[in-house]
Amino acid sequence: MSRLRLWIDHRFPLSRLLKEHLTHYYVPKNFNALYLFGSLGLLILVNQMLTGIWLAMSYTPTAEGAFASVEYIMRDVEYGWLIRYLHSTGASALFIVVYLHVFRSLLYGSYQQPRELVWIFGMLLYLIIMAEAFAGYLLPWGQMSYWGAQVILSLFGAIPVIGEDIAQWLRGDYLVSGITLNRFYALHVIALPLMLLGLLVLHVFSLHEVGSNNPLGVDIKKCRDERGYPLDAIPFHPYYTLKDLVGAVIFLFVFCAVVFFFPELGGYFLEPSNFEIANPLKTPEHIVPVWYFTPFYAILRAVPDKSLGVMALAASIAVLFVLPWLDRSPVKSMRYKGLPSRLGLLTFSLSFIALGVLGGMAPTLERILWARVFTALYFATFLLMPFYTRWEKARSVPDRIGK
Ligand code: HEM
Repeated sequence: MSRLRLWIDHRFPLSRLLKEHLTHYYVPKNFNALYLFGSLGLLILVNQMLTGIWLAMSYTPTAEGAFASVEYIMRDVEYGWLIRYLHSTGASALFIVVYLHVFRSLLYGSYQQPRELVWIFGMLLYLIIMAEAFAGYLLPWGQMSYWGAQVILSLFGAIPVIGEDIAQWLRGDYLVSGITLNRFYALHVIALPLMLLGLLVLHVFSLHEVGSNNPLGVDIKKCRDERGYPLDAIPFHPYYTLKDLVGAVIFLFVFCAVVFFFPELGGYFLEPSNFEIANPLKTPEHIVPVWYFTPFYAILRAVPDKSLGVMALAASIAVLFVLPWLDRSPVKSMRYKGLPSRLGLLTFSLSFIALGVLGGMAPTLERILWARVFTALYFATFLLMPFYTRWEKARSVPDRIGK
């Protein structure tokens, strides 16, 4: 084996890469369970790629054949039902894991200097995952696939002057049709996964360049031993590879319970109206996106004007990109930040959840009013951040992580 290793090392820097990113990648010794979600995201992505390849072997990307081919996968393909449920459950699981991963980053200020690029690559990953999920949802060609795509694509029509042309260009037709389905298939199986993989490499490499943050936000590079390794750090491998493995096993228990016993999860993971074939002549009573899009859908509906609604939706995501420059606090972790920052994170998290709940319900006047309140709170946390993070009194951060 060592001769094979040497042979490869003379031609490709395998040992150097393993050393830099695993055995000699030194990480803070105080990672907690919230640090599991990055590697769980990677695990789910592998699941999505593998099950996706097998689904593609039996799926037909045409308006005439798509719905029937999904039924064929579910009933006639050997273990087709399992492959499909692993894929559909994986989509929701990825969003749950990513939302917790982002919450961890907000809690510990992992987006702050010097990890701004890690954050920006993360946000780009989030955009691509959303596009990937949106494109994938059209493929079963059910009622909600069709009408969901119709509603979201028509939003582009709200862009002044060129909007209608853009919407038509994206659909490839005047309405969502087989042409749209075919191009969404190309995006879902090739273009977007390639972008996702590229961004993942950038995300992890930019993190490894500056090093990981930790729950205390202590800069571990300040205190080093005589060999130059940070005193409060341990090598990623074997310590965290093993810890991540334990997390993965626990996660897989829950994941498999959903896949085998509740794959539709009460209509949240697979919507009941999507078991009906797409019918361009019959609009469903309530068009509701899948749960992970509902916070943004609620923001869109909260604004009375369509163009302004689209702008609010775009702004709600754009504001997250500039977060590293909105937070002016000298400390990273919530543990040492003041009360206003803590209330800010609480307000943002509760508003996001409340908007998610409201976005999944049929709109009534009362619900729209509540959605307006939570949209205002959502934006207020970010827009006021430069002020409260500068004015609040932060506690001093220790030099070392306690033993
Ligand atoms: C497919 C989605 C994603 C995957 C697979 C992924 C994967 C990872 C991995 C493996 C790590 C290192 C381990 C860890 O700190 O947990 C990491 C760190 C990080 N990620 Fe992600 N990530 C994803 C999306 C995002 C998003 C959407 C954001 C936020 C916009 C983000 C922000 C960060 C930050 C700030 C860190 C550094 C954390 C620290 O050092 O405390 N990631 N990510």
